[in-house]
Amino acid sequence: MKNQLELILKNAETDLEKAQSINDIEEIKLKYLSRKGELNSIKKNLKDLSDEDKRVVGAFANEIAQKLETEVKSKYEEFYKKELDEKLKCEKIDVTLPGKSIPMGKIHPITQTINEITEIFHTLGFTVAPDKNSPEVETEYYHFDGLNFPKDHPARDMQDTFYTTLAPNVILRGQTSGAQVRVMEEMKPPIRIIAPGRVYRNENVNSRKNNFFHQIEGLYVDKNVSFSDLKGILNEFLRLYFGASRPTRFRSSFFPFTEPSVEIDVQCIMCQGKGCRTCSGTGWLEILGAGMVDVNVLKGVGIDPEVYSGFAFGMGVERLAMLKYAIDDIRLFFNNDERFLKQF
Ligand code: DAH
Repeated sequence: MKNQLELILKNAETDLEKAQSINDIEEIKLKYLSRKGELNSIKKNLKDLSDEDKRVVGAFANEIAQKLETEVKSKYEEFYKKELDEKLKCEKIDVTLPGKSIPMGKIHPITQTINEITEIFHTLGFTVAPDKNSPEVETEYYHFDGLNFPKDHPARDMQDTFYTTLAPNVILRGQTSGAQVRVMEEMKPPIRIIAPGRVYRNENVNSRKNNFFHQIEGLYVDKNVSFSDLKGILNEFLRLYFGASRPTRFRSSFFPFTEPSVEIDVQCIMCQGKGCRTCSGTGWLEILGAGMVDVNVLKGVGIDPEVYSGFAFGMGVERLAMLKYAIDDIRLFFNNDERFLKQF
């Protein structure tokens, strides 16, 4: 048995010398040292020996096992180190290589314009109305009735307004003015809010018109608000947004929810007022409607027109952006051409 043990050790040592990799070492461990390995099968036969032999041969078997384990371990470490060194050598990191640049998104020019206008109105004392007061899906009541639109007003026509199938009186809003009614129902004067948002109109799309666009509604209601406040605030806004040198003009107009009503035009930037395709030859582009809040609108929300007065306005965001950056086609904002968007 002793001879057998010595032979096993010798064979194992020869195998170890021939080993090329960690895998080979694992196989040697399995072959000689595992539970089903050669050393264990000898140990199983110890039970047939006399007590004295059992002790001697048993001790010798343990000695051999320990020796082999030590040798296997040191060989294993040798290969482990070698394989690691090789890995490190070929997986070297070149810290001088240029980094990978991650493309960053940009804020859309319309959002940029809304943010800029919102900032200006902040400095003039206006805050943004809560979203819930300015829904894109609106009822005819807030969109028309509460704003003093007569029942037979042409804007109520299906040709101008998108009606939904949700209910007969539910529409996609065509103006942000409904926010005025919702805000006045919930807040007491003094009220000084703006409400930016998207609006929808049943239009044929061309370079000046899209079937959805953005507006910013404004409302100021307090004691003694007069037409000169309207002029003062809106002129200051125009000066801050366009700079002092851009010609603007007030024109009288009509809206069912304001009396008197005005529209403001800004000189066309494409032709410097000479007249071109963008401004239909007039030299001017309309950017907003405004006026003193109609007495009927105030009464409708329970605000006493004997005590309070106010002005309101609604401006077109795309128009304002086109006039600032000389963009001659509204569709550029909506077809997501990176060459256009990257310029902002
Ligand atoms: N809602 C109007 C439109 O879409 C614009 C407007 C005009 C808003 C006068 C107002 C206003 O608040 O007072 O054409």
